Amino acid sequence: MSFPIHRPRRLRLNRIIRSMVRETHLTPEDFIYPMFVTFGKGVKKKISSMPGCFQQSVDEIVKEAQQVYKLGIPAVLLFGIPEHKDERGSEAYSPKGVVQKAVTAIKGKIPELVVITDVCLCEYMSHGHCGIVKNGRILNDPTLELLAKEALSHAKAGADIVAPSDMMDGRVSAIRDVLDANGLEDIPIMSYSAKYASAFYSPFREAAESTPQFGDRRSYQMDPSNRREAIKEVALDIEEGADIVMVKPAMCYMDIISDIKDTFDVPVAAYNVSGEYSMVKAAAKLGWIDEKRIMMEILTSIKRAGADLILTYFAVDAVKELK
Ligand code: PBG
Repeated sequence: MSFPIHRPRRLRLNRIIRSMVRETHLTPEDFIYPMFVTFGKGVKKKISSMPGCFQQSVDEIVKEAQQVYKLGIPAVLLFGIPEHKDERGSEAYSPKGVVQKAVTAIKGKIPELVVITDVCLCEYMSHGHCGIVKNGRILNDPTLELLAKEALSHAKAGADIVAPSDMMDGRVSAIRDVLDANGLEDIPIMSYSAKYASAFYSPFREAAESTPQFGDRRSYQMDPSNRREAIKEVALDIEEGADIVMVKPAMCYMDIISDIKDTFDVPVAAYNVSGEYSMVKAAAKLGWIDEKRIMMEILTSIKRAGADLILTYFAVDAVKELK
């Protein structure tokens, strides 16, 4: 395998040849577009730390979902910003909650768009944690019941897939049991399986108004130093019935995406999170990078690492680039 017999540059000499030997291709079907739904009417509020993203009321979100669908993006992921927060996250599982209303409205207008709901309590809890809090501790087992109720209410409202993002142990089986007991055995679970306690979520917490009021999420989300533990988390979720497993964040965690893809035979999703998005937007605004090229390079790399699905705020811009 040596020079001068081998000259890898031969296959790089022009655009057409490069395209013939390209190993990774992005398509609109790769993407899931996250959206933030809030209460009220006619609301479309800019999220300052995430340029191009908005908190939108149900009527507005339906309009944007229509555009997303027209571009060929197959799915959206909904996060809710409730009117009231409390100690038990009541609006998370209320049939009149913002996500429940948005799901029904979107499915009513665009039945073919796959609507995935984020199942978590942090946006709905007064303390901003993903579980029930007692004496400063985040309780695991009592939280499962609330998460299962939330997933059930999303599915009843018409969600196509539910996506638990809380990182409580045992939540996938709690959700599977409740869905099955209610005749919803065909609703898949996309589990945030290897979700790290990451500083890359901070713009999202402004967007979803879900910053913890005390402490942090390190007692339930994974330590960024750990690689083997991700295999364990994913194995547990698959055992409990997860149909799609997710790695989050994506960019600094491509080793994890690759490990999971090599180890398991279920579809792997990767979440290109808010901080990853906002850093690109900020550097582009300063004129330091070429936003479009960086965006496509990041997304291609996430797919090359092994992601079958990519959750990204860039979905709309990226698909426009692909046209
Ligand atoms: C809810 C949740 C978070 C994100 C998705 N679901 C925030 C968190 O765990 O604090 C982050 C998404 C992003 O940063 O884009 N638990």
